[in-house]
Amino acid sequence: MRKTILITGASSGLGEEMARQFAARGHDLALCARRTDKLEALRTQILAAHPDRRIEIRALDVTDDAQVFEVFRAFANDFGTLDRVVINAGLGKGAPLGTGRFDANKQTAMTNFVGALAQTEAAMEIFRAQNAGHLVMISSMSAMRGMPKTVTTYAATKAGVAHLAEGVRADVMGTPIKVSVIYPGYIRSEMNERVKNAPFIVGTEEGVRAMVEAIEKEKPHAHVPPWPWVPLGVAMKYLPLPLARRLMG
Ligand SMILES: NC(=O)c1ccc[n+]([C@@H]2O[C@H](COP(=O)([O-])OP(=O)(O)OC[C@H]3O[C@@H](n4cnc5c(N)ncnc54)[C@H](OP(=O)(O)O)[C@@H]3O)[C@@H](O)[C@H]2O)c1
Repeated sequence: MRKTILITGASSGLGEEMARQFAARGHDLALCARRTDKLEALRTQILAAHPDRRIEIRALDVTDDAQVFEVFRAFANDFGTLDRVVINAGLGKGAPLGTGRFDANKQTAMTNFVGALAQTEAAMEIFRAQNAGHLVMISSMSAMRGMPKTVTTYAATKAGVAHLAEGVRADVMGTPIKVSVIYPGYIRSEMNERVKNAPFIVGTEEGVRAMVEAIEKEKPHAHVPPWPWVPLGVAMKYLPLPLARRLMG
């Protein structure tokens, strides 16, 4: 069992619910995000249900490179080992390119890609030293294809992190270090609470259950929930762009 799991972006949405579900399965947790009040409340709630779990929390802004390394090393030090790291912190801001919102697109790129790069570096340093560990990258179904409108930069970051993780997998193949890329479809969270057109959206608990099952099986890659996202993933990837563009809103 991967006893100790570090989750970034654990203060809301999928990260918060992954923490609850992993704790219920017997894992100890290292949780981080910028909003530590929410992490404190989550820790209190989880410990009320599972008093034997160990939960450490730390403030982390994933765009602060030095802090990413400090916080990951400090968690590894707390527990002695980190068995799994879930790179989950993410931002869904954005606007069509060339419409004056470089600030929003850049912020998304810095959080979702450069932030994930720093987290991957920090996690892999620990895993290489341990010669063990499970790296989990939370990508998105939007990574399947270039996406129009407000999602263009977001989708590009999610394709980028999926390739980053696959490259790491190619690097460590044949060693005890494993790598999974998770491609969630729409799952209710703070990120999409105001999004009206979210096809096939599922509730947080249901969607995260599918994520946690795929992660525990250490699948190299998983579209979650599998229905309808496995077949839709094929369509998104291979339809000619004029048709794919319509499918993708
Ligand atoms: N929900 C979906 O439908 C869906 C689908 C596909 C992929 N995803 C991916 O799933 C992941 C979780 O998203 P969510 O849906 O759960 O959204 P969410 O509820 O908005 O949660 C995002 C989390 O990321 C953290 N975060 C954002 N910027 C950060 C920063 N600079 N430093 C540290 N933490 C930061 C937030 O914590 P603080 O604000 O407290 O720092 C929060 O805990 C993201 O990577 C997202 O792209 C979600």
